Amino acid sequence: MSIDNPAITQEFAVASFERSPSGMIAVDEEGRIVAVNREVERLLGYDRRELIGRAVETLVPDRHVKAHPGLRQAFSLNPEARPMGAGRELFAKHRDGHDVPVEIGLSPVVVNGKSYVLSTIVDITERRQFENRLRQTQKLEAIGNLASGIAHEFNNILHGILGYAELIKEAVLDQPEVSADLDVIIDSAARGRDLVTRILLFARKGDPNRKKTRLEPVLREAAQLLRATLPHKIDIRSHIDPATPDVVADNTEIHQVVMNLANNAAHSMGETGGLIDIQAGPILVDEKMAAAYPALRTGMYSCLSVIDTGCGIAPDILERIFEPFFTTKAVGEGTGLGLSMIQQIAKGLGGTVEVHSRVGHGTRFDVYLPVASGVDNHAESAEPTDARRHILYVDDEERLAQLGRRLLEGAGYDVVAHTSSLQALTDFRTRPNRFDLVITDNNMPHMTGLDLIDEIMKIRPDVPVMMVSGIGETVDAATLKSRGVRQVLAKPYSFSDLRAAVSRLIAG
Ligand SMILES: Nc1ncnc2c1ncn2[C@@H]1O[C@H](COP(=O)(O)OP(=O)(O)OP(=O)(O)O)[C@@H](O)[C@H]1O
Ligand SMILES: [Mg+2]
Repeated sequence: MSIDNPAITQEFAVASFERSPSGMIAVDEEGRIVAVNREVERLLGYDRRELIGRAVETLVPDRHVKAHPGLRQAFSLNPEARPMGAGRELFAKHRDGHDVPVEIGLSPVVVNGKSYVLSTIVDITERRQFENRLRQTQKLEAIGNLASGIAHEFNNILHGILGYAELIKEAVLDQPEVSADLDVIIDSAARGRDLVTRILLFARKGDPNRKKTRLEPVLREAAQLLRATLPHKIDIRSHIDPATPDVVADNTEIHQVVMNLANNAAHSMGETGGLIDIQAGPILVDEKMAAAYPALRTGMYSCLSVIDTGCGIAPDILERIFEPFFTTKAVGEGTGLGLSMIQQIAKGLGGTVEVHSRVGHGTRFDVYLPVASGVDNHAESAEPTDARRHILYVDDEERLAQLGRRLLEGAGYDVVAHTSSLQALTDFRTRPNRFDLVITDNNMPHMTGLDLIDEIMKIRPDVPVMMVSGIGETVDAATLKSRGVRQVLAKPYSFSDLRAAVSRLIAG
């Protein structure tokens, strides 16, 4: 389109200057502002009448004011349209003094024989926020990878400690003092194991060990821990309906949910203290409720609630509390990850989190978890009755292979241990009917446990197979099952876990 009428062209020029979505500032040769548009008013908080005639340095952050006239001069010596400060982060100074991240383009213009510089200013606050968040996520991911790597190694070490301590305990049953000392070692190692699991859950690398779980003991334990750690001015009560249905979850996940919610609640009370009520009970989600909460379906749920008498949450904050890294805590005091983690856990379990809050009246978080269906996966304990059955035990770590052998021999089984999966396969091939059970680690050089199982299944599809997995190994349960694995035992397992599982598998 070309417009021949100069008056109209002029009007378009004025309109496009004024209405441009970018901020526009025209500056004369002396560095004085001669025109700004409304986006500049919005972005930097000025009325244009406050800016016209002032030095453009008014809009430059204090730390750059001194150098700015020099930069203007350099531009006037070489007046070509270009982005300002290419590759550097630029900021404009808001009327109230804070920095606004911007991108600035500079173009020379001549009007009525006089030279001006026209700056185009684009607000990049949101982009910067996004980039910061991304950087933080990446940092967190790196920490997560590191933590899960260490946790994985550490877990094998704990496995050794726990297992050998249990072995010694069997040998000193007649010395109660030594036995009691060993209990302390076993207890500490077991605590270390829980810690590792928690680290892995946080790094989201561990396959949470989900099974049918009763909420009550986990909630009671959490309440006890809170009572021991929170200030006395905070009263902690729990109301757990004995009819609360079991859910499918990892204990650690439930524990994390409650502890995070309760810590938030405690924080919201500040010095004054107050009441935290931990509740659990069954709840039937009807059609109306399912329609109101898209994450829920009609049916039975267990609802876990943490209710506080704290300061409450203002509506504009309430909108954002589940965002990762959103926090109102001081720098260094909170990561803003608590609630996003809780939401992720609830989602992972097929449930959801709801929040109700009023400023000055406290807050209530409800975590809905679908109830576990009929099958009972509670760990069963069974005693081995079938001595002299033969087991092939494979773990590439010599210590752990020997540990497995000794634990099972102690329970009356005949065990052949291999540290090479290839050798184990050869052994199995030469006498396939010898073994009543194969137990194997997965992560091994040359041939993984899963590949070994594939080969064994080709030879004898009926032989029961158990996999001992390090945490953080991500083979999902369905894959394992389809490949013939009947049972997975997570390292470090306890003596009784191992015996119970073996006895169950051998009994068929
Ligand atoms: N019970 C509560 N009462 C009042 N405000 C809350 C409550 N729970 C959460 N909030 C608000 O939600 C924000 C986000 O909570 P979230 O648990 O995700 O992170 P955080 O507690 O700030 O940090 P972190 O959990 O890492 O210590 C909190 O900073 C707070 O403003
Ligand atoms: Mg928190």
